[in-house]
Amino acid sequence: GDIIIATYMKSGTTWMQQIVSQLIFDGAENLDIPTLSPWVELRTLPTETRTAIQHQPHRRFLKTHLPADALRMSNKAKYIYVGRDGRDTAWSLHNHHFNATDAYFDRYNSGVEHLPPLTRGTADPHEFYQQWMAGDGFPMWPFWDHHRTWWAIRHQPNVKLVHYNDLTSDLPGTIRSIAQFLNMDIPDDRLDLITSHCSFAYMKANAATMVPRNGASWTGGAQTFINKGQNGRWRDSLGPAEIAGYQAKARAELGPDCAQWLEHGGAIGQIPGGLP
Ligand code: A3P
Repeated sequence: GDIIIATYMKSGTTWMQQIVSQLIFDGAENLDIPTLSPWVELRTLPTETRTAIQHQPHRRFLKTHLPADALRMSNKAKYIYVGRDGRDTAWSLHNHHFNATDAYFDRYNSGVEHLPPLTRGTADPHEFYQQWMAGDGFPMWPFWDHHRTWWAIRHQPNVKLVHYNDLTSDLPGTIRSIAQFLNMDIPDDRLDLITSHCSFAYMKANAATMVPRNGASWTGGAQTFINKGQNGRWRDSLGPAEIAGYQAKARAELGPDCAQWLEHGGAIGQIPGGLP
């Protein structure tokens, strides 16, 4: 019954963790999301948090940023993958990365002296985007391959792809479809409460209980992490050639169907004739 919430990063991971927590805990407030739903492969995850996973009495919902082909998949678990347009992801990542504290960089740079140090980098989101595109996810992990691996298994019955735009355009409807996927009942009167606890305003106001390390890793605290909750911030910066360049790269890397989904969201087409 385990639920694995997977994303590249900055795509609505925390949003999906909050949605699933609300389904499991029936709309409860003040849940400690990063402790209940740790990022399992994080090198710096405290040992006691990792050990506690084994003893959780409730249905588990764990977070990962691994590509699907780096996970040992189980037919007994359910996997929710959240996708977001790469330009929105990069703009969100710039905020996350540039506003991280010195302690954040020190933590990630300790114990890996054989690797180039993770540095704060540019203050300019447009320049950050250019470096992120040129370096395929720089300074984080590869972007395109991540999506390819999850897209490749999208038709498996225990895998559900959800797009950030679907959450934005129809939050209650998308929550209901997630509940169905998880075989959970959600009474109509509960849906309103759960939806309100997953709104941007609620999550921003309660960010400290939802984001990693209670937000201590970011200047401005947890509310820096739950930043704007809006797409398209790149539109003022990217010119037509850069926009066309992104779209051409997405099609070349992902194929037309996945590129279309990643840009717009919406229902994933069924394979004619059923599952392969
Ligand atoms: P922005 O930086 O664009 O604001 P992740 O959890 O994968 O790191 O993703 C973080 C992004 O999800 C941030 O995007 C954050 O604001 C957004 N987010 C979190 N909760 C949200 C909500 N309830 N509604 C809309 N966006 C949300």
